[in-house]
Amino acid sequence: MNHSYIAGTGSYVPEKIITNFTLEKMIDTSDEWIRTRTGILERRIAQENETTSDLSIKAALSAIEDAKITSGDLDLIITATVTPDMVFPSSSCMIQKNIGAHKAAAFDVAAACSGFIYALNVGDQLIKSGQYKTVMVLGADTLTKIIDWTDRNTCILFGDGAGAVILKSTQEDRGIYSTHLYTDGTLGELLEVRSLRPTSEETLTNRLHYISMKGNELFKVAIKAMTEAIQDVTRSNGIPIDAVDFFIFHQANIRIIQAVAQRLNIPENKIPLTIQKYGNTSTASMPITLDELNKAGKIQPGNTVCFAAFGGGLTWASSLLKW
Ligand code: ACO
Repeated sequence: MNHSYIAGTGSYVPEKIITNFTLEKMIDTSDEWIRTRTGILERRIAQENETTSDLSIKAALSAIEDAKITSGDLDLIITATVTPDMVFPSSSCMIQKNIGAHKAAAFDVAAACSGFIYALNVGDQLIKSGQYKTVMVLGADTLTKIIDWTDRNTCILFGDGAGAVILKSTQEDRGIYSTHLYTDGTLGELLEVRSLRPTSEETLTNRLHYISMKGNELFKVAIKAMTEAIQDVTRSNGIPIDAVDFFIFHQANIRIIQAVAQRLNIPENKIPLTIQKYGNTSTASMPITLDELNKAGKIQPGNTVCFAAFGGGLTWASSLLKW
């Protein structure tokens, strides 16, 4: 039986920092409001000419080095993103070209902030089926390019970044146990960007090219969805929640993470956080957080790791693996 395991991780965030104090000068907000409502202190912003694939290439090369492989070893590249550089070629095609992964097939997956887990599931299944042996899965977004910097409800939340993992095939008893995906399209209007139509004076005037969000409603759905997704993935693998060593959550809001942790009795020391320094980097937040944990030498072979996320769609997802 083939299993897929994470053989290496990488991540990259842009150099430019915007603190809450900078935002205080731009809109009617305060550091205190942002910190206490979201847990965010600062975020990274891509330069005008810096794209999602630019960030992804740096994360990809770091993951390749960590996994001790070469670009030529990759059979497949899957990037989860909702902010590709252009409509096509996909971000994955650009990454493939720029890292010289000549053998790899490449395509993108769009499931907003849950996208990394969706893409992980695709990579895992293609390895389990025997079709591929080495797959790179990325989560990457530059949401700051599609936020309305005059809308204090959204512009304080987001940052840019990219994270990558290398999945490899093994016959050993390790790697991804299972992944669970969920969607409720009827709740799509809670978080959307309605710009995929011919641009017109009307679409520009109505600011349809920017993220619009019903934060309050999303907040409640997110807590319930992630709590149930973690219960599902642990129960279906017969692993008690308290036997999981690390929970890698989508970093959307510290209060959402704390509420899920409280419901499931998860201690703080099992939940690595990056939201305070990067904000909500969309689907990149999980592989970035995993990479920082990995590079700090905190995950040991045999550790159990659980991913959980929610995002636009609405989509949500969980995945459980043995490191
Ligand atoms: N600064 C100061 N005041 C603000 C700001 C701001 N930046 N934004 C909103 N407020 C005000 C509101 O206008 C409101 O004022 P009012 O009472 O006079 O009307 C008050 O603060 C409370 O607003 P709420 O929306 O009720 O604040 P809430 O505690 O719900 O926090 C937040 C808002 C942070 C957006 C929260 O609802 C949230 O995190 N929701 C989930 C959002 C999320 O996770 N989005 C992304 C998920 S998917 C993805 O990652 C792409």
